[in-house]
Amino acid sequence: MAIQYDAGQRIFAIQTRNSSYIFGVNERDRLQHLYWGAPVSIMDCAPLLRLKSHSSFDAEVEGEAEEYSFWGGVCYTEPSLKVRMQDGVRDLSVSYSHHQIIEQGGKETLIITLKDRVYPLETQLVYQVIPEYDLVERYARIMNTGELDIVLESMQSAAWSLPCLQDYRLTHVTGKWSGEFQLRNTGLTEGKKVLESRRGFTGAHANPWFAIDDGFATESGGGVWFGALAWSGNWKIAAEKTPFNQVRVTGGIHDFDSEWLLGAGEAFETPVFTGGFSSTGFGGMSRRLHQYQYDYVLPRNEPGKVLYNSWEATYFDVNAKDQIALAKRAARLGVERFVVDDGWFGQRHSDHAGLGDWSVNTDKFPQGLDELIGEVRALGMEFGIWVEPESVNPDSDLYRAHPDWVYHFETRERTELRNQLLLNISKPEVKQYILDFMSGLLGRHEIKFIKWDMNRTLTEPGMKDYPLNRQKEVWVRHVQSLYDIWSQLRAEFPDVEFETCAGGGSRIDLGIFRYADQSWPSDNTDAFDRLSIQEGFSYTYAPRMMTCWVTESPTGMNGRHVSLRYRFHSAMMGTLGIGSNLNEWSDAQIEESREYIRQYKDIRHLVQSGSQYRHTALRGKGVTAVQYSDASGSDHVLFAFLHSQKLGEPLPRLCLTALDPGKSYIIEGLEGSFSGRALMNIGVELPLRGDFDSLICRIREQA
Ligand code: GLA
Repeated sequence: MAIQYDAGQRIFAIQTRNSSYIFGVNERDRLQHLYWGAPVSIMDCAPLLRLKSHSSFDAEVEGEAEEYSFWGGVCYTEPSLKVRMQDGVRDLSVSYSHHQIIEQGGKETLIITLKDRVYPLETQLVYQVIPEYDLVERYARIMNTGELDIVLESMQSAAWSLPCLQDYRLTHVTGKWSGEFQLRNTGLTEGKKVLESRRGFTGAHANPWFAIDDGFATESGGGVWFGALAWSGNWKIAAEKTPFNQVRVTGGIHDFDSEWLLGAGEAFETPVFTGGFSSTGFGGMSRRLHQYQYDYVLPRNEPGKVLYNSWEATYFDVNAKDQIALAKRAARLGVERFVVDDGWFGQRHSDHAGLGDWSVNTDKFPQGLDELIGEVRALGMEFGIWVEPESVNPDSDLYRAHPDWVYHFETRERTELRNQLLLNISKPEVKQYILDFMSGLLGRHEIKFIKWDMNRTLTEPGMKDYPLNRQKEVWVRHVQSLYDIWSQLRAEFPDVEFETCAGGGSRIDLGIFRYADQSWPSDNTDAFDRLSIQEGFSYTYAPRMMTCWVTESPTGMNGRHVSLRYRFHSAMMGTLGIGSNLNEWSDAQIEESREYIRQYKDIRHLVQSGSQYRHTALRGKGVTAVQYSDASGSDHVLFAFLHSQKLGEPLPRLCLTALDPGKSYIIEGLEGSFSGRALMNIGVELPLRGDFDSLICRIREQA
């Protein structure tokens, strides 16, 4: 049993393979966090369950470690729940009522019910355990059991209390369009560090994920406490340190401009916030999260196909003839899925018009889409297509017919971003419009892949025809409606795979990955820039969920020249795609690429399902090296990239990992065999030379 309860001590413990998460019910009948980290027992924690007062100004210091912080009384730290009652009371006074330990969705689950002492408000704290990956999924269910409405002003998913450490270092990502997933770290001092999105979607500027260590954890060692939130709208993660050295990370739906009206008998469920502990550093953290995503989060656990996408080849200038020519070349390469990007519908000749008019443009496709789809299928590939259902260009038939379908305030300008506005998709008729055209598209054609884009943020968030006292629900309703649409489409078309994209990586989080098979992490396809984007991505998200295209060199982005080989190697670290204009490729380029794709198919099980090890030892020498290993430890592939060589400064050898010291290994391209002991301690020489050099090398146990 992963979940334990000691009735005498009133202490709960969640015991996973390599961690303990422990909290108890204190004398005030409130849930007090006690410990999170390497395994200990309930009895070890019993002495920690006590009230702490410092002065009348800090009367209930133990409340700084409350499991889920109810705003009321003397609570001054970040609240988990803040409400407003009909009589104006905004103070919560909550106590533990009872708990259940059950099995839910195949997971051992603890549900703790807390009740307000006066008002008909109940909160259930739900904990679902993933013992093999040392993870706990947490969410809260807030229930109005009375007759009058209750307004929720902040309803967070979870508060994660850190154990007492010498120092606290927060690792997170930041970014922007075409520069997503850039790693950052900072020491926490007293006060709050807030990571957030207020843009209506997950955002490129931050990602709903955190990791905290004592400042000394490395890629392969040391304790790391982390969490990732499953929400694709406005979110907030606040890491707060108090003067009493208590650090707690509270996260969930952003409380900014947000309210939820909880009617009589209604319940609100927060998104899931998954937290975990790794005693094997940041690498251990990432591997736990990756395998968890494969096993528990993704809608299905299938290999990612090699795809071709026409965007960078043709932009909006798509037509049947050119696309068929591209498809023929893609098939020669060994591509498995051919995707037509933006420009196939309505009067979509640029980003100025057509968005919202989802019927095929018959000037571009005189015989409809099926001519192209037929060719693609005859060439042995699947067909996929791009859509952006939440958006509309004012220059479209849809907008001319329904100008009130977009978010707006009557007295304000409707800000256009990329010449488009955003549809209020929680309006029933808008949601139905999207469901109808998507069902029509998928029902009428042999389409097996959808790239679902969203190219603007949410501004002027007015919901016309919606009650005035519920206007601030807009941020949540957009996401709920989106999830609903995706889940209906997935149920109706179980064979269709989905890619999440929002101008690159602006909608990537554990929430959307319950519906999306993969994601487009960035519009920046420069193979070198991608290495840091991919690394930041890999801290939280699994390689298979990351689509990476090989595009032209120099890229339009930054004019950098890198070889075809380097571009392939960089893109082979996720789900491989090609985005070049193949119609302009020489036969020699096609032949060379065919060979890379063949090689990718050979190692894809390692990249897409194996364990990923980031080798950081040579980072200072400009080397990015990543190893992927199978579960048995007998099959590995190493990727290595050199930025630039300096004369007379040889690269140190690279020590491999995850091998058996007592076994022998064969290294592709090298004579003889090597002991695991030698490869892990003496290492291998990397034959990287010049600028932007790269290699891929397979290491296998000797039979
Ligand atoms: C976004 C996507 C691109 C492409 C274009 C099409 O920018 O990130 O990959 O699909 O839209 O307009």
